[in-house]
Amino acid sequence: MNILENDIERILVPEEEVASIEDSMAKQISEDYADKNLLLLCILKGSVVFFSDLMRKITLPMQIDFMKVTSYGKGSTSTGNVRILLDLHREDFSHVDVLIVEDIIDSGRTLSTLVEYLKMKGCRSVRTCTLLDKPARREVEFTPDYVGRIIPDEFVVGFGLDYAEKYRELPYVGILKPEVYKKKESLD
Ligand code: PRP
Repeated sequence: MNILENDIERILVPEEEVASIEDSMAKQISEDYADKNLLLLCILKGSVVFFSDLMRKITLPMQIDFMKVTSYGKGSTSTGNVRILLDLHREDFSHVDVLIVEDIIDSGRTLSTLVEYLKMKGCRSVRTCTLLDKPARREVEFTPDYVGRIIPDEFVVGFGLDYAEKYRELPYVGILKPEVYKKKESLD
C-alpha cells in the first residue's frame, strides 16, 4: 500500500467506476469521431492517467499531443488569464478535430481559454472531455462535451490529481483529509 493512502479520508470514485466511465466515454467518442480526424490532446499534468487509458480504449486511429497550462492567480478569483507553458507545434490545424482531455474542471477558466485558443489556431473542431466536473466552483460559464462524473466541492486527489504535487499515482479519486491541507496552510 502507498503510504500516502493514510491521508485519504474516503474514496470518492473507485478504480472500477473510473474504468467503467472510461469504457462508456471511449465508446461514445469512437462513434462520434468515426468520420473525423481525431487529435487527442492531453493537458499536463493532471490528465495524464485518464488520457493514457482513454487513448487505449478509443477504437479509432488518432494523433496525440500535449499542452501544459497554468492559471495566473490560481486559487483566487482575480484573473482569468491562462499561461501556456507547453504549446502545440504544427503548421496546419485546419484538418484536425481536437478533443481536449482533462482530469477535472473547476473554475472553467483553463478549458474556456484553451478552446478559444485552439479555435483561433484554426482547428476544424474543438471539443472537451473531463473525468470529473465540479460545477459548484465555476467562475466562467463552461459546459464540457463529455463528462465522466459530476462531483461535489471536495478536495480530491488521485488518478492524476495532486495536492502539492503528491497523490497523482493513487489508482482512484479520493477525498483528502482536511488536516493534511490545513496543516500545510497553518505552516505557510
Ligand atoms: C488542474 C486541472 C485543470 C485545471 C482545472 O490543473 O488539471 O487543468 O486545474 O481548473 P480550472 O477549471 O479552475 O481552470 P492544474 O493547474 O492544477 O495543473 P496540473 O494538471 O499540473 O496539476
